[in-house]
Amino acid sequence: MTTLPPLLGHPVRRPTPDDHLPVLAVLDRWWGGLGGEEGSRQRALLLPKLMFQHFSSSSFLVTADERIVAFLIGFLSPSRPAESYIHFVGVDPAERGKGLGAALYERFFAYSRENGRSVVRAITSPVNKDSHAFHTRMGFVTEPGPKEFEGLPVQPDYDGPGLDRLSFRKDL
Ligand SMILES: CC(C)(COP(=O)(O)OP(=O)(O)OC[C@H]1O[C@@H](n2cnc3c(N)ncnc32)[C@H](O)[C@@H]1OP(=O)(O)O)[C@@H](O)C(=O)NCCC(=O)NCCS
Repeated sequence: MTTLPPLLGHPVRRPTPDDHLPVLAVLDRWWGGLGGEEGSRQRALLLPKLMFQHFSSSSFLVTADERIVAFLIGFLSPSRPAESYIHFVGVDPAERGKGLGAALYERFFAYSRENGRSVVRAITSPVNKDSHAFHTRMGFVTEPGPKEFEGLPVQPDYDGPGLDRLSFRKDL
């Protein structure tokens, strides 16, 4: 198992396929049931086991007493050599507001820079106001879009029919 320098005193390691089901098990609670049953289904589908098999070396998992308290699934874009991508991030509600999410992002930014990346991208659902606030605080710009949702620029049908998204970009 690859251990990494701690974050805010918490052990950090690379996720493994054994972490797949434990991470799925916390999603609904950590996301507060956002989007109801459909939101729950979509979140689970966004984290298939392959993320824990093939994206492990660019992802991070934070624990406390062996319990998962935060994770970031990201990767260096294989097709866009200047870019990296944060696919999914979550922090246990009990551990929020202490800088853990920011520290995870900074760790991924450093990893991206070390690997020659100058742009980080991420997307989120327009209803996820917390995610928008967090990404804005972390220096991401919400890219212009042809549609608006509650004042935010939206990419309509970005992930398929009816699956609108906010698109974030940060220049490192
Ligand atoms: C978004 C999330 C990862 C933030 O984690 P966190 O550990 O609480 O974030 P931090 O404590 O590191 O906060 C970093 C900065 O973002 C700000 N921030 C974080 N969440 C915020 C929110 N909901 N509203 C406004 N600002 C917020 C903090 O105030 C802080 O800014 P500061 O340095 O000026 O104080 C966490 O709330 C979470 O897991 N949410 C549910 C999952 C989710 O939506 N993930 C993102 C989409 S995939």
